[in-house]
Amino acid sequence: MKSSAVLAAATLTTFASASAATRIACVGDSITAGSCSSGEPAFYPSQLQDLLDAEYGSGAYNVTNFGESGATMQKKGDSPYWERASFPKLVAETWDIVVIMLGTNDAKDEGSGGPSNWQHDCATLADCVFAEDYKSMIDTVRSLGNPDIYIMVPPPLMEDTIYGMNSTVINSVYPSLIPAIQADNKGVLGPIDIFSALGGVADWTSAFPDSCSLDSPWAPCSNFCDEQSCDQCHPNDDGYAALAKAVQAGLGL
Ligand SMILES: *[C@@H]1O[C@H](CO)[C@@H](O)[C@H](O)[C@H]1NC(C)=O
Ligand SMILES: *[C@@H]1O[C@H](CO)[C@@H](O)[C@H](O)[C@H]1NC(C)=O
Repeated sequence: MKSSAVLAAATLTTFASASAATRIACVGDSITAGSCSSGEPAFYPSQLQDLLDAEYGSGAYNVTNFGESGATMQKKGDSPYWERASFPKLVAETWDIVVIMLGTNDAKDEGSGGPSNWQHDCATLADCVFAEDYKSMIDTVRSLGNPDIYIMVPPPLMEDTIYGMNSTVINSVYPSLIPAIQADNKGVLGPIDIFSALGGVADWTSAFPDSCSLDSPWAPCSNFCDEQSCDQCHPNDDGYAALAKAVQAGLGL
């Protein structure tokens, strides 16, 4: 009796490890959590799961959404990811791949009507608190089974000061700062450029409209504004589809 139970348990263990999915954790804010989408099937991690299921068959990959609305990378931000409910869940497990997309809430500043999260201190990496806390997050994630770590440039902000965010920080600072952070942290992969994938351009100050509207002539506004949702920060369902595709491509899957 006892020995057959042990044998059954051993067989189950072997089966489980042979069929184990590649585990992907998506760390981020409301753009990972899926705000302004029509619901969970449209969240980018859900759409990434669907894309990987379609490509590799169900069970090959397991994508987990660790998005926390309003979360900052900076430990002294108004809502640090480090203190949010997903953080202990993330660090309780090991991962094969971890994708990090934070910074949008760090770009809030008083001049834009938000909390003073952004310190305007990132002219060099050495003085940049955001880069320091990013490194600390990377080191934390590295300890979770040494996963492949991908960092991402967040989507563009389509209207200055919306949600108290500074569009210069999101649209000009991050597209060069996130690659610098990637290069400065050995072994970190990417950056996956979600800024460009969702229509961000270097000359955004002249190219972007003041904000996206339903009849916007700026084509990439369709990633943010249509009948389903019109927001200047969070993608709509179509934007989340583009985001999921960009992550799949960025992961080389
Ligand atoms: C995927 O991973 C999560 C987090 O570890 C786990 O809770 C869930 O059961 C897994 N799903 C499948 C289908 O294995
Ligand atoms: C936004 O950030 C830029 C770059 O640090 C800064 O020059 C600008 O004054 C900020 N805008 C506001 C409205 O505070």
